[in-house]
Amino acid sequence: MKATAIAPANIAFIKYWGKSNNELRLPLNDSISMNLSGAYTTTTIEFSPTVSRDEVKLLDGEFSEKEIARVVAGLDRIRALAGVHLSARVVTQNSFPKGAGSAASASGFAALTMAGFAAIGKTLSEKELTVVARLGSGSACRSIPDGFVLWKSGDMSDHSYAYSLHPSSCWDIRDALVIVDSRMKKISTTDGMESVVTSPHLAKRLAALPQRVDRCIAALRDKNFSMLGSVVEEDCLDMHKVMQTQSPPCVYWNAATQKIMDAVISWRMSGLPVYFTIDAGPNVHVLYEAIHEKEMAKKLLTLTDVEKIIYNKATDGAKLVDQHLF
Ligand code: PMV
Repeated sequence: MKATAIAPANIAFIKYWGKSNNELRLPLNDSISMNLSGAYTTTTIEFSPTVSRDEVKLLDGEFSEKEIARVVAGLDRIRALAGVHLSARVVTQNSFPKGAGSAASASGFAALTMAGFAAIGKTLSEKELTVVARLGSGSACRSIPDGFVLWKSGDMSDHSYAYSLHPSSCWDIRDALVIVDSRMKKISTTDGMESVVTSPHLAKRLAALPQRVDRCIAALRDKNFSMLGSVVEEDCLDMHKVMQTQSPPCVYWNAATQKIMDAVISWRMSGLPVYFTIDAGPNVHVLYEAIHEKEMAKKLLTLTDVEKIIYNKATDGAKLVDQHLF
């Protein structure tokens, strides 16, 4: 059978950086995210006796050898769980540049997992799907449930899963993803996380995280935007402090990133409730509530050195659709 899934990228409000188990991709801490309506991956998969070895194709771009190997490893996990030994044809398409932070691997592995199990004819619960997606790319597990999502760190594979805290309709938060450089990042998240323990700041971050996670959950529950924005910005800066103090250092920001952070802070000083967050790349997510959409659109247009802005709302998680890519 052929199946197609669409999965959104997600932006982490509380970030995941560092693993307690590399092979199982168990994170050092719980993380929280929002699914992004304007940045998504569509993937069609067919397992078939007429295919002699896995064929993996990215429309509008090319996968590296390493990326293809990661997709094939994802297919192997699906085949092993279903007890099926057929090769697959996979065609996938992103709505946004592959190097926009770590977004493409999250939406990519969420779409691959959902389409893969449907195509192979094995039904998994949402929780189980998040566990399998996590093994492909950690943050992918957060792209499966709807809206605002928590990923529990867990001490073994089945305990490290994601679930929805609130549906996307519960709060109209906007995320303008300001792309300043759409090329692939220099250091992959997998490589960067390998040396997280070398940061002298890691212990302090891990000690602060449980309370920060609670503040983020409370802000989402109470729809308190200034509380949410403050905790999101605090955690972004804290994660980048860890990254930048690792050996070798992971410095993902560039001059354009810094300029946008400065602009967001100055807009806030002048009374607009707006905050930023940044993943493993130079591009900046600018967060605000829908009521400030008009003023924000004007402000965002004044930014320089920008390649593109992707406007997002909160959205549902991965879903199966009938329109196939082949
Ligand atoms: O799941 P990965 O390997 O793409 O890592 C994601 C890491 C960050 O984007 C920096 C943080 C996060 O929680 O999304």
